[in-house]
Amino acid sequence: MVSKIKLGVLGSGRGSNFLAIYNNILAGRLDAEVAVVISDKPSKMLEKAKEFGLENVYLNPKDFPSKLDFDLEIVKVLKAHQVELIVLAGYMRILSEQFINSFPNKIINIHPSLLPAFKGLHPQRQALEAGVKEAGCTVHFVTFELDSGPILLQEKVNVDEHDTEESLSAKILEKEHIIYTKAIRMVSGEK
Ligand code: GAR
Repeated sequence: MVSKIKLGVLGSGRGSNFLAIYNNILAGRLDAEVAVVISDKPSKMLEKAKEFGLENVYLNPKDFPSKLDFDLEIVKVLKAHQVELIVLAGYMRILSEQFINSFPNKIINIHPSLLPAFKGLHPQRQALEAGVKEAGCTVHFVTFELDSGPILLQEKVNVDEHDTEESLSAKILEKEHIIYTKAIRMVSGEK
């Protein structure tokens, strides 16, 4: 039997994308296993991972002399768990080049905009301010440039005139929960 792809999930907050992915695994919709969940904050995501009995690691950047030391510790944890694909799920830090080089083409991210539009922080707010009629989300490979790697999947939502940052974010998040699993399937070679 071919072994399931081992995921390492990194996040900083709420963890709804992690939860959607994990639920899809449990439901048999994604042939993968969560090898470890790592957070730079004592986050909701980490609490959930603990609840599910998954390997979970909290690393406080302040405990490390430099950003590089912090990143290299994460790399160590990921390697120790034999992670094959790193899934950034609301991880709000920029990865160092050394981190990215440690896992070539094995790091993916989800961003709540139709990249290349609205990179960086508050993309939903940026979309509303720009007055676009369509917004959405993107799963892409992580490269050295922020929110710029090759795109795996995108999904659109309509922007209505009454949309607020909150309502638009909620519509986009619903799509995020669907496409992230699809993207992992694509990367892991599943049909
Ligand atoms: C998601 O909307 C994700 O796309 C975004 O953070 C949120 C995390 O929510 N990520 C970024 O903005 C990264 N640039 P979650 O913790 O509930 O998955």
